[in-house]
Amino acid sequence: MPEPILIEDFTDFDKSLLYKLGSSYYASKGLKAFSKASGSYIPNEISNSYPHARAFVELCKKIILDKKIDKFKILEFGSGSGIFARHALLAAKDLGIEKNIVFYLSDITSKTFDEIKSIGVLNDFQEHTHYEFLELNLLNIPNTYSKTFDAVLLNYVFDALPTLPLRYSEEGNLEKLQIQIWQNPDDKSLNENNLLEDSNLLSRLLIQELWVKYSPSQGLEQKYFDLLSKDLVDHRSKILYPYAALSATEMLLDLLDDNGFIYVSDMPLDKNDPGIFRMFANAIVNYFSEPLITKLITNQNYCGYVVQDNSFLRMFYFKNQNLFLELLDLMKELYEKTSTVDIYYDIRKALDSISSPHSKDLIEFLCKKFLEFDKHSCVSYFMQAKLFELIGETEKAQIARTKAQKLDFLGNFS
Ligand SMILES: C[S@@+](CC[C@H](N)C(=O)[O-])C[C@H]1O[C@@H](n2cnc3c(N)ncnc32)[C@H](O)[C@@H]1O
Repeated sequence: MPEPILIEDFTDFDKSLLYKLGSSYYASKGLKAFSKASGSYIPNEISNSYPHARAFVELCKKIILDKKIDKFKILEFGSGSGIFARHALLAAKDLGIEKNIVFYLSDITSKTFDEIKSIGVLNDFQEHTHYEFLELNLLNIPNTYSKTFDAVLLNYVFDALPTLPLRYSEEGNLEKLQIQIWQNPDDKSLNENNLLEDSNLLSRLLIQELWVKYSPSQGLEQKYFDLLSKDLVDHRSKILYPYAALSATEMLLDLLDDNGFIYVSDMPLDKNDPGIFRMFANAIVNYFSEPLITKLITNQNYCGYVVQDNSFLRMFYFKNQNLFLELLDLMKELYEKTSTVDIYYDIRKALDSISSPHSKDLIEFLCKKFLEFDKHSCVSYFMQAKLFELIGETEKAQIARTKAQKLDFLGNFS
């Protein structure tokens, strides 16, 4: 039997080929990374859902009205498909602040911007009036944008940055994770073309783990090393050291106007998963753990508000304590008293699990409930089509379905 082929010998996890291939995947694959048509894809429905965008825009609205801001500038890093931007602009319209918002979509590659244009994600809005595109690498932000933005948003982006898993040995010394990568001899050889075409290539690699003594070499790992401490270990007795996200956070603070805020939503730690990262298609998604970011922020006398539900770990960071206090009640209302995103997700799962035609009442109830939160997305038009079908209005059902298909930019729902 052919032996596995060694692809890379033991290397720090965050500098390994696995990580490098994963991060080049987004840049080369563009929006296809988010589309079901590519086979395995990066899930994005919940992060880009209308209720998620709406809750964020409600916070912006409060600042716009309280501070009488004429043009509130929102910068989204890693904007991917642009669907969050579309939903945020629709929410701004619903909330009567469309004229007061400019949404800057930014990503590591402008390839996504060309694709957003060609599939028409933002066709209901005007470039240079409602939105702008900016090619920006979160790890190297030019200082020309200092104090330019009122809100900076990152939706499942920190998890894509290099993160080094650490743990404390029994003797109390820090250890880091190294991995060794092997390829199954039956697999095609690993190259960029395969990575793009074969969307499960990374998950078929064989990975061996090794924990070795850690002392930070240099650069960012050295810079934030003093933030690490034993009390920060998670339920798996690990610390995921997000040195790149820590550096990015400092740069983001610099981009913010004094009355601005940072909003980060990301994948929370999963108590049932002992793993350190997940693989979606050929991208690595690190579980994200926020205590180090919050420690960095509070050490600098800034304020943080962190809240978690089933859908997201959400982190808000403010330069200005007064602004934090002014928004606190609204944040609690939007994210603690309820979570429209969790409800959205549960309704989607509940509807998927209904199989009997005798459950019409249940379907009707769930679709109507869903439409209380979302009247804009393609999913909501599919719900409307379903409701019309239930009452025999086939023509109206067809109109709603056609609209849904038109809004299904990534082909994930049709
Ligand atoms: C998991 S996707 C999330 C996309 C989108 N925000 C969403 O929720 O669907 C991660 C995004 O971050 C972008 N990204 C990865 N590394 C980046 C970096 N260093 N600078 C800017 N964007 C980056 C990728 O291109 C990709 O669009």
